[in-house]
Amino acid sequence: MAEAPRRLWDKGAPLDELVHRFSVGDDSVWDLRLVQADCIGSAAHARTLHRAGLLSDAELASLLSGLRTIAEEHRHGRFTIPPALEDCHTAIEARLVAHCGPAGERIHTGRSRNDQVATAMRLVMRSDALHWLDRLGDLLHTLLARIQRDGAQPMPGYTHLRPAMPSSVGQWLHAHAEGLLEQGRATLDLLDRLDACPLGTGAGFGVPLRLDRAFTAELLGFSRVQRSPIDVQNSRGRLERYFARVAADIGAVIERLAWDLLLFSTAEFGFFSLPESLTTGSSIMPQKRNPDVLELMRAHGARLRVRTLELDWVAGKLPSSYHRDLQLTKEPALRAADEVCTLLVVAARVVELFIVHGDRLTAAMRPELYATEEALRLVETGVPFRQAYRQVAADLSAGRAPRASAQAGQVGADELTAVAADWSAIIQQADRFRRAEQTAARALAP
Ligand code: ARG
Repeated sequence: MAEAPRRLWDKGAPLDELVHRFSVGDDSVWDLRLVQADCIGSAAHARTLHRAGLLSDAELASLLSGLRTIAEEHRHGRFTIPPALEDCHTAIEARLVAHCGPAGERIHTGRSRNDQVATAMRLVMRSDALHWLDRLGDLLHTLLARIQRDGAQPMPGYTHLRPAMPSSVGQWLHAHAEGLLEQGRATLDLLDRLDACPLGTGAGFGVPLRLDRAFTAELLGFSRVQRSPIDVQNSRGRLERYFARVAADIGAVIERLAWDLLLFSTAEFGFFSLPESLTTGSSIMPQKRNPDVLELMRAHGARLRVRTLELDWVAGKLPSSYHRDLQLTKEPALRAADEVCTLLVVAARVVELFIVHGDRLTAAMRPELYATEEALRLVETGVPFRQAYRQVAADLSAGRAPRASAQAGQVGADELTAVAADWSAIIQQADRFRRAEQTAARALAP
C-alpha cells in the first residue's frame, strides 16, 4: 500500500498537534488562492530543471500533465489542502507524486517553499492588480457618463463645510475621477515593482545548481530576475504592503465619495438621494430608508487602511531573510484585493443610480458664493485685488449681492476628454502585464 503523503520535512519525529495546528494556521484556506499560481510556478521550474539536464523529456511531460490536472481540479473546486499537509506547496507536491510517481519526487530539486511562495504571491498580486484596474476603469467611465448627464448642474462648493464658491455636480464628480486616475498610475507602478522573478533563489541564499533564472523569469512573464536571494525574502511583506497600500488609496477615494453623498443626501442638504432599491429599512421606525450602502463603503475604505497596518506590523519588524511571520502577510494582502474589487463594483452602481435634485441644488446657490468672482471682475477693470476684496465685502454687508455667472464652477469638455485619454494611456501601459499573465499561463501547456 502507498504511504500517506506527509509534511515535506517530516523525518519521523513526533510533532505536538497544537503547535502543528498553530503553525499551519489558515494556510489551508488562504493558500487555495495560490494554487493556480503555484502550478504555473512549478511548471516554469520543471522546464528550467529540464533545460539544466536535471529532468528527462518524459519526466517533464509527466510533471506538466500532473500540474495541469491539479490546476483543473482546483478550477472545479475539487482540490483541497489537508491541514496535515500544511500548505498548498506540500499538497501540490503530494498530488504530483501520486500522479507522476518518481518524477514527482524531482520537482522540488533546487527550490524551497520560500522562493515558491514568493513567486506564487507575486503572480497572484499581478493578476489581482490587473483585475482591480479593470474595475477602476468601470467606475471611472461610470463617473464620466454621470458627468455627461448631470455635470452642468450648479452646486455650491464648500470649504470648512461652509459655502465658498460656485461649483457644479460635474466639478465635484470630476475630482473623484482624477483621484481614481492617480490610483490607476499607482497600480502601474505597483505592477512594475512586482515585475521581478523570485524563483531560483531557494531558501534565500541562492541554489548551488546551474539554473537559468532568466529563462524561468521569461516563462513566467517577468521582465527581470530579482537578483538578490535575500532581498526576495526581505521583499515579502514589503511588496504585499505596497499592494495593500494602493488598494487602500483606491478605497480612500471611494470613502470620500461615499461621505460626500451621505452628507449631501441628508434631509438638511437634500441635493442628492438614493433610489429606494439602494437603501435599507429600519426594523422599528416605519418611515426610515437608510443609506447603509454608503456607510459600509466608508467603513470598507477605512478597513482597507487597516490591512496595510497589519502588513506594516507583521512584516516591518523583522531582520533579513525568511521568518515564518511572513506567512501572515498573505491574508491581509489577499483580503485587500478582494475588498477593493467589491468596493469598486458597488461604488459604480451607486454612481450610476443616485438621484440629483436640481431644484435643491439651484436653491442653494446663494449670491455670496459669487463674491470672489465679483472681486476678480473689478480686478479686470484695473482695481488692485485687496481694494476690490474690501469693496465686495462692503457691498455684501450693505445687502448688495454680487452678480451670478453661469460659467462659474463648470468643468470643461476638454478636461473630461483628458481624463479619458489619460485612462487609455494607463490601460495601454498595463497591456504588457496582461500579456505577461498570458505568457505565464502558457508555462503549463504541453
Ligand atoms: N506557508 C509558508 C509561508 O507562507 C510557506 C513557506 C514555508 N517555509 C518554511 N521555511 N517553513 O511562509
